[in-house]
Amino acid sequence: MLVTTSRHKILVVGASGATGLRVVKQLLELDLHVTIIVRCVNSFPKSILNHHRLRATQSTLLEMSDAELQKMVQGCTAVISCLGHNLTFKGLYGHPRRLVTQAVCRLCQAIKTVNTGDPVKFILMNTTGNQNKQAGEHVSFAQRLVVGVIRYLIPPHADNEAAAAYLQTYQGTKDQVHNNIIEWVVVRPDSLINDETVSAYTLYPSPIRSAIFDAGKTSRINVAHFMTQLVVCGSTWQSWRFKMPVIYNS
Ligand SMILES: NC(=O)c1ccc[n+]([C@@H]2O[C@H](COP(=O)([O-])OP(=O)(O)OC[C@H]3O[C@@H](n4cnc5c(N)ncnc54)[C@H](OP(=O)(O)O)[C@@H]3O)[C@@H](O)[C@H]2O)c1
Repeated sequence: MLVTTSRHKILVVGASGATGLRVVKQLLELDLHVTIIVRCVNSFPKSILNHHRLRATQSTLLEMSDAELQKMVQGCTAVISCLGHNLTFKGLYGHPRRLVTQAVCRLCQAIKTVNTGDPVKFILMNTTGNQNKQAGEHVSFAQRLVVGVIRYLIPPHADNEAAAAYLQTYQGTKDQVHNNIIEWVVVRPDSLINDETVSAYTLYPSPIRSAIFDAGKTSRINVAHFMTQLVVCGSTWQSWRFKMPVIYNS
């Protein structure tokens, strides 16, 4: 079931990134109103920036005040995070070490503060390297060992894990659905690739291959397509809310 899109306002953070930009484009193509927070509007494509249904704020997300963040989420029916650490030495090892986790926490707090009753969808871009222990996922000893080393050597991995854990632990579960202001889906792509068009993709509740020793491929544009479907398609949302779907190109 597709929802009526015109009254929906979606906040996208990480919108200037490779996946975030594709999310914004697809949301606009579906007649949605999109709000973005970007560090530099000048590096954002002008054709999209000038779109009449896009509102861009130039700011650094974690430096915004609580009041500013509350204004950003006010009236939003969904918030999408495609944030990720830049793949530079500073991005990987500098501050903010917990970019994604802090952003998720602060945005959720802002949503809870301004919320007037209707649940808000929170869609978080994550990774298949993040094991969903709550769902009983098991990985091999070798994979656990390698992920342990990655967690230690590459701080963004721990950040992705903590961000998903925040949504799982603090925003409740399906069993507590009536108390939830925030409903969430943590989207886990495998190795990301850039394709120009949406292609066939498959969703699974848990990884069907090793993220370390047998990684599959996921097009960013397919991630964007799935995220967009989560926003506009009620049955897709019902199928995946409070879950951590894994997405592979078919
Ligand atoms: N690479 C893979 O194969 C792979 C696989 C699975 C999952 N993932 C995960 O997927 C996510 C997104 O991937 P992607 O390739 O689409 O990301 P990306 O192109 O690197 O985009 C990252 C976004 O985060 C923003 N950002 C970075 N540091 C920031 C900061 N300090 N403050 C505010 N915004 C900041 C960037 O803004 P600016 O444009 O201003 O820098 C950009 O919008 C990441 O979390 C990554 O871990 C990656």
